[in-house]
Formats: sequence, structure tokens, C-alpha cells
Amino acid sequence: MTSEDGKKLTGKVALITGGSRGIGKAIASAYARHGARVFICARGENDLARTVNEIRGAGGQIAGLEGDVGKAEDAQRIVGAAVERYGTVHVLVNNASLLGSRVAIADYPISDWEEVMRVNLTGVFLLTQQVLQVMIPQRQGSIINVSSGVGRTGKARWGAYACSKAGLEGFTQVLADELKDCGIRVNSVNPAATRTGMRAQAYPDEDPLALPVPEEIMPIFIYLASDESVGVTGKALEAREWMKRGPSTSSGW
Ligand SMILES: NC(=O)c1ccc[n+]([C@@H]2O[C@H](COP(=O)([O-])OP(=O)(O)OC[C@H]3O[C@@H](n4cnc5c(N)ncnc54)[C@H](OP(=O)(O)O)[C@@H]3O)[C@@H](O)[C@H]2O)c1
Repeated sequence: MTSEDGKKLTGKVALITGGSRGIGKAIASAYARHGARVFICARGENDLARTVNEIRGAGGQIAGLEGDVGKAEDAQRIVGAAVERYGTVHVLVNNASLLGSRVAIADYPISDWEEVMRVNLTGVFLLTQQVLQVMIPQRQGSIINVSSGVGRTGKARWGAYACSKAGLEGFTQVLADELKDCGIRVNSVNPAATRTGMRAQAYPDEDPLALPVPEEIMPIFIYLASDESVGVTGKALEAREWMKRGPSTSSGW
């Protein structure tokens, strides 16, 4: 439902992990512009504070907390702070992730493997488990898992990142099935190549100006957070196709 002023998320509370930069920051900003009360987390305090101030300065309702999604105590602290601030959570965007090494599995460092899996997959599990404590009793919610093309079709030298995103697709399907009668929808979104720090790290020789900025891929994230997507669950969606065609699509990097 859209309010009279065209805002699609009035009344919603959204928690976005990795909301301090890149795609997560664009989601936080778009959600705030659409009237949601927004809570973000990231490890780096400076970027987090800068983003909160920027979005607040533009009139958005936003707060944030520093923390690492891959640590159980931080996940509990982050969700606890969001609930304390806004009373509940209606939308969880599992966006935070690490790229890790771009080397073949044969040479992949074990420490890097463990760190990427801890953040990209265990972090999603930890945040989601905490948020379900409020979503299940209220029988309402949308969980949006930010995936990747290499999580849907693996590619050489994408190592733990690709495997963690394939795990995220499995997590999305399991959870969507478990929650299908609870009023909680769970979907994954592949942003595809987008102009961010992570993309530049993955492709240092690429011209970033050739890529869309995160703001361009926001329509699918707004749709999945809004009541327009009630009943849509277990889907693997493509942000780029959505920019062109809207809700008729379903299933890069
Ligand atoms: N950009 C692309 O082309 C592209 C393509 C496909 C998929 N994706 C996916 O899109 C999502 C966003 O990517 P992006 O390109 O915007 O990445 P980014 O620019 O590197 O931003 C990542 C965000 O996650 C946070 N973060 C990282 N580790 C964290 C942790 N352990 N706990 C909490 N926050 C953490 C970062 O802040 P701190 O470092 O301060 O913690 C930052 O706010 C990711 O899931 C990525 O895999 C991106």
C-alpha cells in the first residue's frame, strides 16, 4: 500500500546489515525516503556515523550500531538495539558481506575461507534467528537476502564468496518453506555488477563509471519491503531485470 505522499514504507521498521556503504547505504537511504524507520549496522564506526548523519540530515528516521554480524553476541546486540529503539522489525536486509580471496580452491587460504563463511553465511543465520524472535509472534515480515550471480552459477576463483552465496540461496529456500504459513516472506536478490568498493576490489582494472550506481537498483528492494510483495516468497530475484520490467520477473556476478 502506498500512502498519499507516495511513500511505500510508512509504518515499517527495517534493519539493514552493512548499511554504512555501497548497496546497503543506498537501501537505508531509499527506505528512509519512503517513510520507514531504519536501523543499520557495520563494523566501522566512522562510516556508520557518517551515513546515519547524512540520512538524518535529509529528514530520514535512522539509527545505527557498530557490530560484526558474524558474532553471536553482536547479532543479539544489534537486533536488541533496533527493537529497543523502534519496538519491532518488519524488514531484515541481510546485505553485509566480505569478498575474500580471488584465487582457485586449490590455493584458497583456510583462514580466509573461515572468515568469509562466518560473515556471509553464519552472519545471515545469526541476524535472522534474532529477528525471527519478533517477526514470528507478530506474524509479519520480509527477509531480503543479498546474493550474487556466482551464488547461483559458480565460477572459477570466486572461492568462499561464491560458496557462501550458494549457501545463502539454500538458506533462503529452507527458511521460506519453514515460514510460509507465518506471514513472513523470504527472498534473495542478485544486485549484479554495481559501482561499490567491493566491486572495485573484485575488478581493479574495470572503469567504475561503466557500472550502475546502487541507487539505480533500489526498486526491487523497495518492492520486497513494501506490502506490494506480501505472499511473494522463496524467490531468487534479479535487481537488473527488475529495473527494466518490474514484478513480472523472477529468476553476473
Ligand atoms: N557491488 C556489486 O557489484 C555486487 C554484486 C553482487 C552482489 N553484491 C552483494 O551486495 C551486498 C553489498 O555489497 P557492496 O558492493 O555494497 O559491498 P561494500 O561496498 O563492500 O559494503 C559492504 C558493507 O558491509 C559491511 N560489512 C562487512 N562485513 C561486515 C560484518 N562482518 N558485520 C557487519 N557489517 C559488515 C561494510 O562495513 P564495514 O566494513 O565497516 O563492516 C559495508 O557497510 C553484498 O552482499 C555483496 O556480496 C554486490
